[in-house]
Amino acid sequence: MARRVLVTGASGRIGLPLVRALAAAGHAVTGLARSPTKAAVVRDAGAVGCLVGGIHDRALLARGAAGADLVFHLAGGLRGPGAETADRLNRGGTVALVEALSEAGARPRVVYASSAAVYGDRAGLWVEEDFPASPQTNYGRSKAAAERVLLDSGLPVRVARIGIVYGPGFPVLLDRAIRAGRAWLPGEGDAWMPVIHVDDCVQALLAIAASDADGSTWHVAAPEPALALDFYREVHARVGGRPVRFWSTFVPSWAQAWAASRVEAAFERTPMRPPITPDHLRLLSASVRLKVDGLARGLAFRWRHPDIASGLDAALRPAASLARALDRAGERFDALAARLDALGERLDVGPSTPVARILASRPGARDVLARRHLSSCADCPVGEDETLAEVAETHGLFLPDLLAEIRALPPSGGPA
Ligand SMILES: NC(=O)c1ccc[n+]([C@@H]2O[C@H](COP(=O)([O-])OP(=O)(O)OC[C@H]3O[C@@H](n4cnc5c(N)ncnc54)[C@H](OP(=O)(O)O)[C@@H]3O)[C@@H](O)[C@H]2O)c1
Repeated sequence: MARRVLVTGASGRIGLPLVRALAAAGHAVTGLARSPTKAAVVRDAGAVGCLVGGIHDRALLARGAAGADLVFHLAGGLRGPGAETADRLNRGGTVALVEALSEAGARPRVVYASSAAVYGDRAGLWVEEDFPASPQTNYGRSKAAAERVLLDSGLPVRVARIGIVYGPGFPVLLDRAIRAGRAWLPGEGDAWMPVIHVDDCVQALLAIAASDADGSTWHVAAPEPALALDFYREVHARVGGRPVRFWSTFVPSWAQAWAASRVEAAFERTPMRPPITPDHLRLLSASVRLKVDGLARGLAFRWRHPDIASGLDAALRPAASLARALDRAGERFDALAARLDALGERLDVGPSTPVARILASRPGARDVLARRHLSSCADCPVGEDETLAEVAETHGLFLPDLLAEIRALPPSGGPA
């Protein structure tokens, strides 16, 4: 059944493919994006419309929510720019959405993009979907708080605790830095990462949206998590360069944390997002494994990329296979050019081509030479080892005309 769907965070890495999938399935999607340029991208992905504004703009959200029967709430992230904390962005944004829905008198089904960060670092333990949240980061706390806001709202809510999403262009792959030989990460590479390919993430969100379980919590991850060391080794195997180095071997954790908090404090006075914060450090080295029985058994979900080998091939091969295709095309082009050269060499006639070669490649040239030569000099012979230019000079023939007439002759073996 076609639905009217609102997607917040529609311009994001997960949001955009989600909009594409919803539109392809025939749903009428309205996105929320923060600039007209991003709104145009969302419409290009198939949305029938896109609101332009921030997640705290309740009036705007109410307009987008009016008539919607399904909302995917994806707007959010580790923190906002400048002084916009994770709490204001994720919990505050969710409060604004719930209030907007209430103002619009709408009671759509809401699927929330929460995060495995609500579990904090579990030292590699497997956690099930009913495991209590125990966040250790501002981001994790803000996501857990946003879950509560939604679950307490009385709306038909599904919470998707998403692992670590990767796909073409996702920064978590570090593929550019690895290729350039300057990829560093905190930790020692022994953390379990609950990874999932973005295509599977999108399909899982759609499956969760279609489920009947109001107030439910789902894990969105591949059935097999990956150790950071293995994940990045596989990326390196596909892109070359230099493997990731884990900087905890070189920099004590207290120094990392101190430096990251200084960076975050400095960026609070700017309109930009800090490139590294204490949350980044903790999230990048947190170790947790997500049980996905809900998806696998409850929804009979089938992953397209259940393991990192297949997922990374899909994420990184487009570029690699394009490069290989270009290489192959280049080789074919070179071979073709060489054959054309050889053919040209055999067929083409120039001022310095010896007469013997011309006669071999263009039998009709004998008549041309005889006719032109006869008209100028009846009894002087044409030397077959002479070049055409020499013949023209010796016999007073006009070289360009002679060349043109010989070139117009069909080559031997060619059309008569
Ligand atoms: N990627 C992961 O590994 C992962 C894992 C777990 C959970 N999640 C959650 O999934 C959601 C989508 O993640 P993603 O990977 O697609 O992230 P992303 O590429 O950074 O996209 C975030 C989206 O949220 C929008 N947004 C951010 N701040 C906003 C604000 N103040 N008002 C309105 N929109 C705002 C962004 O808009 P702009 O394009 O204008 O910036 C963008 O569309 C997030 O809530 C994230 O916390 C992601």
